[in-house]
Amino acid sequence: MNYLNKIYTYTKGYGRVYFFSSLTVFGATIFSLLNPLIIKYIIDIIIQNSSISDSYFEKSMDFLVGKSLLNTAVLLFTFAVFQGTCLYFKGKLSSIASEGMVKSIKDRLYTKLQNVKYNYFNKMETGDLLQRCTSDVETIRKFLAIQLVEVVNIILMITIIFFILINLNLKLSMIVLSIVPLMFIFSLYFFIVVKKHFKISDEAEASLSTVLQENIHGVRVVKAFASEDLEIKKFQCSNKHYSDVTYKLIQLFACYWPISSFFSFLQMGLVLFLGIKWAVAGSVTIGTVIAFGMYVRHLEFPVRNLGRVLSDFGKAAISFERIEEILNNQTDFDKNEELKKPEIKGKIVFKDVKFSYIDKPVLNGVSFNLDIGETLGILGPTGSGKSSLIHLIVRLYDYDSGSIKIDGIELKEIDKKWLRKNIGLVLQETFLFAKNVKENIGITKKTLDDQDIFAAAKTASIHEGILSFKEGYKTQIGEKGVSLSGGQKQRIAIARTIINDHKILIFDDSLSAVDIETDALIRQELKKKHSSSTTIIISHRISSIVNSDKIMILEDGKISDYGTHNQLKERDGLYKRILKIQEDGMKEGIL
Ligand SMILES: Nc1ncnc2c1ncn2[C@@H]1O[C@H](COP(=O)(O)OP(=O)(O)OP(=O)(O)O)[C@@H](O)[C@H]1O
Ligand SMILES: [Mg+2]
Repeated sequence: MNYLNKIYTYTKGYGRVYFFSSLTVFGATIFSLLNPLIIKYIIDIIIQNSSISDSYFEKSMDFLVGKSLLNTAVLLFTFAVFQGTCLYFKGKLSSIASEGMVKSIKDRLYTKLQNVKYNYFNKMETGDLLQRCTSDVETIRKFLAIQLVEVVNIILMITIIFFILINLNLKLSMIVLSIVPLMFIFSLYFFIVVKKHFKISDEAEASLSTVLQENIHGVRVVKAFASEDLEIKKFQCSNKHYSDVTYKLIQLFACYWPISSFFSFLQMGLVLFLGIKWAVAGSVTIGTVIAFGMYVRHLEFPVRNLGRVLSDFGKAAISFERIEEILNNQTDFDKNEELKKPEIKGKIVFKDVKFSYIDKPVLNGVSFNLDIGETLGILGPTGSGKSSLIHLIVRLYDYDSGSIKIDGIELKEIDKKWLRKNIGLVLQETFLFAKNVKENIGITKKTLDDQDIFAAAKTASIHEGILSFKEGYKTQIGEKGVSLSGGQKQRIAIARTIINDHKILIFDDSLSAVDIETDALIRQELKKKHSSSTTIIISHRISSIVNSDKIMILEDGKISDYGTHNQLKERDGLYKRILKIQEDGMKEGIL
């Protein structure tokens, strides 16, 4: 019942289209089911010249076509045309409804995924999300386009046939009716069993694609480690599993068709055997026996198919659930009118901030002040919580306790979207879109202004580099475009952020892949063009943060030291140790 409600909510807005579609199904069913009665009329009334019975149908036929074979043929032809027309509109209307609904489901899914909380993507696998947005939606599309109308068709077909058969001959119809439940139960049982195998086969296919996707994605690592043979074996293993599962599925179907055909033949055999026996005895007409035979053929497909439709309904229900799981997620952007959208000037104050990922404590009482226009350098071992700290500033996660204030306003009172639009963050992992260089740099801009883009690229020291590409700023990035070096990617990512004149700029290890000289050049340019912006630079390289107004040493989620370069280099601690290692490395030419 719950699922029926869900289907109902999905079909909202398309009720009228489905209603007309059901009407065309009704029309097609009626026209196809009239044929056996017309054949019976031809045999009994026209050929055998029997008298017209009390049947309403025979009286109508007599009125319409009399005893003329030609008129009856014209009537049969007309009905065939009507039936064809109904079938055409049935297909057309149900695909209009299903495509419309699927489009709206996809739009809602994509919008939801754009707005869902950031940590949702930590727990979900990309492959799984893609499968939900593609093959699960496709399962629903098929169900809505084919099966939903088919249910109407099957129910109508079976009901009308039973009604006609009982009216034609009660004894013969009892024989037909006695076999139908057997066929239906067998078909339902088969499809319930086969559903499990469909699931196994789906999973096997998904794991085969994962192996393939992983291999293609990590082809450089595979080549670098010369592990092609291992990868081939891994693929062959998955491929064999998929092929075995598919073979099992084919075998199951190979059993299904002959057994369900056996029931049909049994039904037909009984109708013909008893029908002819009773016809010879004169208790039924030959036309009735032939019409019965034709109706038995008509019944075969819907009864067999009903099992399939019911089991596919189960499959679609699983897809419905998987899609609903995404749609029911809480969004990241609360529509709280009270959230503030203040002008961001750049003063940042952390007071005893504590933060943990579910049960993993990461920041343990972090406090510091940054005035407008100041630069803060953050240094610390891997995993010490540097990235987590700056993710809190743009509210990708919310802190558990303590306080973070921007320009005196508590962060939790500021609208997230507003905050992210007004703070420039270059993430530690560089991701560029499969677009050209210009579009990548201007991705946050509504219109692309060449001068803005060139200026940002110049500050990020990548302008000359871009011009040296064959197609300059039009150079395509990504799989089908040029492969950029790590440093080029980082600099394009920096340009993408600084193109907006933010009052707070954050660089999370964003210069790790560029040489020391370029690193210095970029910082120099930043100082020139964005001197009024509060800047946070996370780096493992002392030279990147040496000129910062303040330097924070973060160890194990706590500030272990804080000061200027001159203060820190004198104090025993991590900063002094790293400084020594890096200076020695420079002298020896290692770094
Ligand atoms: N999404 C997450 N869920 C759970 N734990 C996480 C998550 N992201 C990071 N962590 C953990 O939190 C700790 C701090 O991670 P963080 O990324 O802040 O370190 P970092 O100082 O930036 O390190 P690095 O210098 O390597 O970039 C690590 O132990 C890490 O394993
Ligand atoms: Mg980090």
